[in-house]
Amino acid sequence: MRRSGNTVLITGGGSGIGLALAERLLAAGNTVIVCGRDPARLDAACARLPGLVAIRADVADPAAREALVREVTGRFPALNVLINNAGHVEVCDPAAPAHVEVLRHEIAVNLLAPVALTMLLLPRLRLRDDACIVNVTTGYVFLPSARTAPYSATKAAMHVMTRALRFQLRGTTVRVVEVMPPAVDTAMATHYPGPKLTVADAADRILRGLLRDRQEIVIGLSRLGRLTARIAPNLAFGVMNRLELRPAPALRWPGRRRAAPDQPASDRARS
Ligand SMILES: NC(=O)c1ccc[n+]([C@@H]2O[C@H](COP(=O)([O-])OP(=O)(O)OC[C@H]3O[C@@H](n4cnc5c(N)ncnc54)[C@H](OP(=O)(O)O)[C@@H]3O)[C@@H](O)[C@H]2O)c1
Repeated sequence: MRRSGNTVLITGGGSGIGLALAERLLAAGNTVIVCGRDPARLDAACARLPGLVAIRADVADPAAREALVREVTGRFPALNVLINNAGHVEVCDPAAPAHVEVLRHEIAVNLLAPVALTMLLLPRLRLRDDACIVNVTTGYVFLPSARTAPYSATKAAMHVMTRALRFQLRGTTVRVVEVMPPAVDTAMATHYPGPKLTVADAADRILRGLLRDRQEIVIGLSRLGRLTARIAPNLAFGVMNRLELRPAPALRWPGRRRAAPDQPASDRARS
């Protein structure tokens, strides 16, 4: 992707990783449009980033998606980059009854929405000589997380769809990129007990990957997930999930020694 002069639509760009990417892309001289459901969040994003264009849209709603595409292509016919970033995660027990409803919503946001938006925009993107579709998935595509099983399943499906789309569009002017971040310190990851990248760090690494024309941007601990899933998939799956299921205060990730807050000070000094 070239550094400047792009017209970029970022779904869920009103906060978190999407907003940090919007900030960097705007600063580099691109036109950036973000969408989301919460008008207050979009207003705050526009107040923070002059020049940002925000459109209220729920990408999980088919009618809203079509309206979004009509508005974006009408107002910004030069659109050449789609970043499918909006996502939803819930911690859930796959054996509990609520699991089906959680799965339905996560499929709508994390899988159906990016696939449908891509289909709606592809005819336009194919007219551009430098188009790019970026799908934000997660390191869980390599090692699925049992505590967020529906999320992991939808993202793994998106990983497959991304690879297939890349293959289908080979030899065209449309590049297909997948971004697999590890845990990042956003609202989405408040439940996550392990180490997290800062949003700024994650956005910097994603942008670097995009500018280097990487087709898979695998960041931080997601790289370890990819490696261990190849070498010892069952062992790696078990270790990661056991670590994730441990109560947060006692959690110690390999290479990171951290005392539990309820541990006596004398013990902490020893550990
Ligand atoms: N944070 C992590 O640890 C992490 C790790 C790996 C991958 N990721 C992926 O990175 C992407 C961005 O996540 P984040 O961490 O930046 O999350 P975030 O801070 O919670 O932001 C998610 C954004 O998506 C928007 N959104 C959610 N549902 C939407 C819908 N139906 N229609 C339109 N917009 C919607 C939200 O805005 P509204 O609520 O206003 O709609 C919000 O602005 C996601 O795809 C996520 O799966 C995150």
